[in-house]
Amino acid sequence: MSGVLIWIAFVFTQTSFSTAQPVEMMGEKRFAKAPYCPDQILAPQHLYQKVKARSTIECMAQCRPDADCSAIVYDTGNHDCQLGDSKAYENCSNMEAAGPNMKFYHEPPPCGVGEEMGPDGICVCKAGFKGYPNCVRYLSDCDDVYHYGNWTGDGVYFIQPLLSAQPFQVYCRFITNARNYIMERRKNDMEFNRPWNDYVNGFGDVDGDHFLGLENIYALTNDHKRFELRVVVKDEANDRFFENPYKETKIGNAASGYPFLFNVSAHSTLPPVGCFQSLYGAKFSTSDRDNDGVPNVHCAALREGPWWYNDASCNTCNPTGPLVRPAGGTRLGVDNEVFWTHVLGNVAPFKVTMFLVLQSEFNSCWPNC
Ligand SMILES: *[C@@H]1O[C@H](CO)[C@@H](O)[C@H](O)[C@H]1NC(C)=O
Ligand SMILES: *[C@@H]1O[C@H](CO)[C@@H](O)[C@H](O)[C@H]1NC(C)=O
Ligand SMILES: *[C@@H]1O[C@H](CO)[C@@H](O)[C@H](O)[C@H]1NC(C)=O
Repeated sequence: MSGVLIWIAFVFTQTSFSTAQPVEMMGEKRFAKAPYCPDQILAPQHLYQKVKARSTIECMAQCRPDADCSAIVYDTGNHDCQLGDSKAYENCSNMEAAGPNMKFYHEPPPCGVGEEMGPDGICVCKAGFKGYPNCVRYLSDCDDVYHYGNWTGDGVYFIQPLLSAQPFQVYCRFITNARNYIMERRKNDMEFNRPWNDYVNGFGDVDGDHFLGLENIYALTNDHKRFELRVVVKDEANDRFFENPYKETKIGNAASGYPFLFNVSAHSTLPPVGCFQSLYGAKFSTSDRDNDGVPNVHCAALREGPWWYNDASCNTCNPTGPLVRPAGGTRLGVDNEVFWTHVLGNVAPFKVTMFLVLQSEFNSCWPNC
C-alpha cells in the first residue's frame, strides 16, 4: 500500500515538470508522454468522455479497460479526467496547447524495426540504428558510421546491414572515403588455411589479421550501396602495389556458394584485368568444401588457400595461402605460397590487405588516396 502511495506521490511530483517522462506500466496498456508534442494535449474532438479521478494514475485506470481509449487528458486542478480515442500524431496535428494543470498521456506507438523500448517507455534506437523519427537510419557500412554513427577515428565499429541478423564489427578507416576492411594479413599471426565455417563466419581480430566472413561480406555488399573492391599487397621492402579496383563488387548468397560478382561493364578495360578477371561467378572453396567445379582438381587444397576458384589453373593469386615471406623476397615458385602475379609477378607478397569503398566519383584518387 505504501508503495502505491509513494508511486502516486512520485507521479504528482513528476507531472509538475514538463521535462519528466513518467510511464505507467501496470496492466496491458502502457502510458507515456508524447515528447515530440511538448506542452500539448489531445484536441477536443478526440476527447469522448469526462470522468472524475483523484490522480493521473486513477485516470489511466479508467482508460485502461476501455477499448476505445488510447489517451488521457488529466486536469490536476479540478481532477477532470478526459478519455481520448487517439494517440498523438508525430506531426502533432491532432493536438493543441495545454492549459494550466493539463497533462497528456497516451499509449506510446509500438517500436519500429530499428527501435527498442527504452526504460522510460519511449522507443530508443537499437545498436546499429540512428535517426528520427523511428530510427530509420541503420548503419550498413563504415560510411554510415562516419556520417551517422559514433565516429571517433579509424578503428573497430559495429554495423548491421539489413541482411545481417546481428550487428557485427568491422575495421573502418577514413581516407578520402570510408574503407570497410574485409581481409588483412599484416602481422602473420593467424592461420588462414581454415575450414569452410570459419570463412563463412569470419575469423581473427578485425583490427588485426582477419577475414571478415562471407556472410558479413554478403550482407554488406547486398544492401542498398555499391562497393568497389581494392587490394593492396606489399613486398619485402614494404612498398605498396595495387590491384585494379573491381567495381560494384558483390558476393552472392550462401545457397549459391558465395559467388564473386562485379559489374563487368563498369570497367573501362573489358574485362577488368587482374586476379579476379576470370573469377566472375566463381564459388568459394576451402580445403573441406571443393566448389571449384573442376574434376580431379581441388584448388583450395592445392593452394592451401581458401578462395574463389573456377578453373584448373587455380588463379593467379593466392592471398590466403601460407605467408612464406621468403628471404630475398622472391617467390619460391611452389603451389602453396602467397602470390599475386598480376601485381607482383615473381616477387613474394609480405602483406595483403583488402577493403571495400563506396562506388563513386572519388575513385579517381586511387591509388593516391
Ligand atoms: C499528420 O499525421 C496524421 C497521421 O499520421 C495524418 O493523417 C495527417 O494527414 C498529418 N497532417 C499533416 C498536416 O501532415
Ligand atoms: C553510440 O554511443 C552511444 C553512447 O555510448 C550508445 O548508446 C549508442 O548505442 C551508440 N550507437 C551506435 C550506433 O553504436
Ligand atoms: C554497370 O556499370 C555500368 C557503367 O557504369 C552501368 O551503366 C550499369 O547500370 C551497371 N550495371 C548494373 C547492373 O548496375
